[in-house]
Amino acid sequence: MPVSTGMPKRSGPFRAGDKVQLTGPKGRRNTITLEAGKTFHTHRGILDHDAIIGQPDGSVIENTVGVEHLALRPLLVDFVMSMPRGAAIIYPKDAAQILALADIFPGARVVEAGVGSGALSLWLLRAIGERGMLYSFERREEFAAVARGNAASFLGADPANWIVTVGDLETALPATVPSGGADRVVLDMLAPWECVHASADALTPGGVLLCYVATVTQLSRVAEAIRASGLFTEPQSNETMVRGWHVEGLAVRPDHRMIGHTGFLITARRLAPGTVLPELKRRPSKTSFADEDVEVWTPGALGERQASPKVLRKRVRQAEAGADLARGGSRADARPKPIERDQQTQDQHPQHQQPHSDNSAGTHDPVA
Ligand SMILES: C[S@@+](CC[C@H](N)C(=O)[O-])C[C@H]1O[C@@H](n2cnc3c(N)ncnc32)[C@H](O)[C@@H]1O
Repeated sequence: MPVSTGMPKRSGPFRAGDKVQLTGPKGRRNTITLEAGKTFHTHRGILDHDAIIGQPDGSVIENTVGVEHLALRPLLVDFVMSMPRGAAIIYPKDAAQILALADIFPGARVVEAGVGSGALSLWLLRAIGERGMLYSFERREEFAAVARGNAASFLGADPANWIVTVGDLETALPATVPSGGADRVVLDMLAPWECVHASADALTPGGVLLCYVATVTQLSRVAEAIRASGLFTEPQSNETMVRGWHVEGLAVRPDHRMIGHTGFLITARRLAPGTVLPELKRRPSKTSFADEDVEVWTPGALGERQASPKVLRKRVRQAEAGADLARGGSRADARPKPIERDQQTQDQHPQHQQPHSDNSAGTHDPVA
């Protein structure tokens, strides 16, 4: 039976063994697994599983006292957000980006570490399909057990195309996947920089390495490790923010709450053996910084553009003019000025954006 996508359990009338998400009158949700002859109890009555079995997905079912419940098969999104967790999961917004940016395709041979609770494993299994192969690595046996349980719970069986190896990726990977035997490597672990060389060895030329990291310090370190290896293209980094919207009648606005931060994604392509990447002009040459510099938070290492002394003097004049005006003075150079070219350039870089005041004098906020 094909199980890596869970396809047989995704549609058709409800059957015994299916998971069903029940939404009660106050929006409270419960997920149950259907069993003939069983009942689901709430403080507002009893619902017979048999009343659900055979009904189409999306039906409303009444319990013994007439309270209605909407019955729907949980989506993978619903399942991963409520399944048992050993370690923190990759959220659906990031999983979706990982599938796109790592270019996970049907039939792909994918390496993943660590497995954690198996959330990303489920997305990867679905994307690679029945003919793909997922090699997952997890150093903690109990987390691997949680992940295996979650996968079988959602898919209905253990996927035949999923090999979970308990061990450290760096040492276990060469013993499991032959050199060049992986199309994609996806790392979600504390120290992915330790696994850059092992990942490069497993990847086929042109293959994609993707790392998910939670902090900027990890991001910086893994980026420099990828560059220093000389085995990959220039790494690309991003983060994804998703803001929900409340849309009801004329009350159409962003939700008051959102998930502010989960993690960063960084991707790079495996170069063919022996390929030397041409030095990019905009990167500082190796002689312009020492390895120790990368470890500290210098503006140069962080890629920040610094204002020239001339620009800085102008900013000081603008700041002083604005301050004079605020103190009740009327300096001529405190009048609003057109935005100058260097300011426009800065405005294109979010890290340089400054709040623009909206006071009646219309002065520009000084740019630090
Ligand atoms: C945040 S969790 C992964 C969550 C998972 N991606 C998910 O969506 O459920 C990170 C996992 O990586 C494992 N880990 C860390 N370093 C590892 C390594 N070098 N080799 C294998 N597993 C590792 C940890 O034990 C932990 O379970």
